[in-house]
Amino acid sequence: MGLFSDILKSDETLFKNPVALEFSFQPKLIKYREEKQHYIASCIKPLLQERDGRNLIITGKPGVGKTVCLKHVLGELEEEYSEEIFCIYVNCWKKDSPFKMVSEICEQVGYKWVHNKRIDELIKAAATIINKKSAVFVFDEIDKLQDHLVIYNLLEEIYKKSLILITNDDGFLSKLDQRVKSRLMPNTLKFEPYSLIQTSGILKQRVEWAFYEEVFNEEILELISKKTFENEDIRLGLFLLKESAEMAEGFAKRKVELDHVNQSLEKINEFKTKDLNYLDKKKQYLLELVKKNNGKTINEIFKIYQDEGGSQTYRTFHRKVKDLESKKLLQLKEEFRGSFGRVTIVEYDTNKKINEF
Ligand SMILES: Nc1ncnc2c1ncn2[C@@H]1O[C@H](COP(=O)(O)OP(=O)(O)OP(=O)(O)O)[C@@H](O)[C@H]1O
Ligand SMILES: [Mg+2]
Repeated sequence: MGLFSDILKSDETLFKNPVALEFSFQPKLIKYREEKQHYIASCIKPLLQERDGRNLIITGKPGVGKTVCLKHVLGELEEEYSEEIFCIYVNCWKKDSPFKMVSEICEQVGYKWVHNKRIDELIKAAATIINKKSAVFVFDEIDKLQDHLVIYNLLEEIYKKSLILITNDDGFLSKLDQRVKSRLMPNTLKFEPYSLIQTSGILKQRVEWAFYEEVFNEEILELISKKTFENEDIRLGLFLLKESAEMAEGFAKRKVELDHVNQSLEKINEFKTKDLNYLDKKKQYLLELVKKNNGKTINEIFKIYQDEGGSQTYRTFHRKVKDLESKKLLQLKEEFRGSFGRVTIVEYDTNKKINEF
């Protein structure tokens, strides 16, 4: 090897196909989730025999392949059965009100006259179209939908369907209104985090697609896989691959070195604190309060807040807590506590998503 052959020329790059590192990239095959995909397909299959499908709630931590898997199943279904079945996917974080959600459904089934219509009119219009076939609805991040009663309306109006709801919240089903629950009667499917070997398999595949040969050596891939496995979120691995390769390029290196990965790892911590700095002072203070009182009820925390001199009303306090929840910085969990009835527990969320930084 020549003295300067490890130097990257200014017009060269390490990235063969950078798109393969984007979080929304859809791989052709979703490794290690074959069983899950078969199970999901089995809930949908009755629709192909003109029967009603089964409903499903899918849970699992961030970055364990729920969305990518469901999109894959929908893709296959659409490819073969678009004549018989509508495949509808809605991200309820983006479409977080019943109106936005239903408008999105209308758009996907080709109903365009949504302006100046009430939500019940829209549901009826969509149902008229959908009931000519059957439908699979995937409602991703369903816990972000502001009012779940719309699910009841859809269940009532659409005859042959499978509803698949995806959430990070294991206890989501128990929070649903009884009317929705008793009509939904869902099966449940949990996505567990990937093992170290699986994590490494997924990342190696991405490296092959995204980079030219020999950019990453075994030792470095092992380190990235290990960190990703510990964090239980594939997004961390994708982020580290991209970030460390960009860093190597910045130093005109042909190969990623250990130091580049370590610096990328530091950047994650930096991002976390940076992200918190975006919160206004009151919300930062609130989050600190939750951290210190992790696991207490929202009423208990409000009392502490007042004792410490907080002047906001409960309503404002509650709204801010909800806002922190929507940013996934904390979680609200309902619990039944004997004579106290239902209480809301506030938990500090250490499971922050990398794509939110
Ligand atoms: N088995 C897999 N094969 C290839 N890529 C995967 C696999 N599992 C996850 N990924 C990738 O990891 C990233 C996170 O996956 P995904 O978006 O499906 O997570 P999720 O479980 O829906 O997380 P969240 O709850 O945060 O929405 C995506 O970029 C996805 O392509
Ligand atoms: Mg997802």
